[in-house]
Amino acid sequence: MTIQLGIPVLRLARNNSQGPAPTSRPAGLPSKLLDRFGRQATDMRLSVTDKCNLRCTYCMPADGMQWLPKEAVMTAGEIERIVGIRVERLGVRELRITGGEPLVRPDLVEVIATLRARHPELPISMTTNGVGLDKKAEALKEAGLTRVNVSLDSLHEEVFSQLTRRPFLGKVLAGVEGARAAGLGPVKINAVLMRGVNDQEAPELLEWALQRDIELRFIEQMPLDAQRGWTEHGMITAPEIHALLSAEFVLERDRRQRDGAPAERFEVRRRHAATGEASGTVLGTVGIIASVSEPFCSDCRRTRVTAEGKIMSCLFSREEFDILALLRAGAEDDELMHLWQDAMWKKPRAHGMDHAGLGTEDFVQPDRSMSAIGG
Ligand code: 5AD
Ligand code: SF4
Repeated sequence: MTIQLGIPVLRLARNNSQGPAPTSRPAGLPSKLLDRFGRQATDMRLSVTDKCNLRCTYCMPADGMQWLPKEAVMTAGEIERIVGIRVERLGVRELRITGGEPLVRPDLVEVIATLRARHPELPISMTTNGVGLDKKAEALKEAGLTRVNVSLDSLHEEVFSQLTRRPFLGKVLAGVEGARAAGLGPVKINAVLMRGVNDQEAPELLEWALQRDIELRFIEQMPLDAQRGWTEHGMITAPEIHALLSAEFVLERDRRQRDGAPAERFEVRRRHAATGEASGTVLGTVGIIASVSEPFCSDCRRTRVTAEGKIMSCLFSREEFDILALLRAGAEDDELMHLWQDAMWKKPRAHGMDHAGLGTEDFVQPDRSMSAIGG
């Protein structure tokens, strides 16, 4: 595995002789979300539920997930207030709705309509597993949702069912089409490859996406499953993804600025079977998100809020800041804003997963799983 540290540059007015930036936030910083390493969060991930109607093996156990009680989850009004502070006072430029699975939240359309009414210009996207999306796509578009990312790891019913533990491939495919028809594009697809399960399907997934003019992104499997089943061996790394795709395609790095985006993008051409050379025109692009082997922490622009209103400045944060409790206790906007700035100030420099021998030294798997944080 590549050992490439995601060490952010210190862009604040400091030099090395001054030592590390203080762990408590100095007074008088501008009202943005800044951390000790000079990063600014402009991209907010908002989880609206921890529940899900799939049980992806890289995320949850088959049974026994403990869901949050209803009263612990942020209401539409609470979401509006929290997002409002973030957008109007702390410089968020993009909002992504996540879960669990956002579509299982009964008032999702209302949540989005409320946010849209207050922030007419804000790009609001959503990451969804696509189940039931065909039925809700038009209402979501009308409410003001900008676009969606759909998770899809296999095009074969058997493999899909093995991976997600639910026989819903048809529903997901209908969801993708429904989203496109409703104008929730460009639709992007996220796929996680699992060794010996769907890894050999990588070229077929790409072919399927190219034919539909959909951007596919492969994500390295991260150790964020509730049952702690992640192994270094099981993860298909970015170089392996390249190798799997190169049997049929030639990938060339897209030189456009990555601009904080986690996916490294490649232009795709077909590989000529006889000569092995690239043939014809660019068919589209594919993204590869090397979250584990080549982390992009140094350019991270994210901050997250869990469904129960806890700020997490990183998927791998060990410290949470309970903004919902403060809000419910009657706090003013200023106090909420300061809590967020404190949380951001403590954002870890990097997640430490890129060190060999995960589970030792720097990297400790967080207590929360992806579905309990918001992907
Ligand atoms: N590693 C990588 N990706 C994951 N996702 C969920 N759990 C993991 C994991 N452990 C993906 C989902 C979805 C996105 C939010 O994150 O498939 O596409
Ligand atoms: Fe649900 Fe997403 Fe987790 Fe799969 S990865 S079980 S779709 S929350």
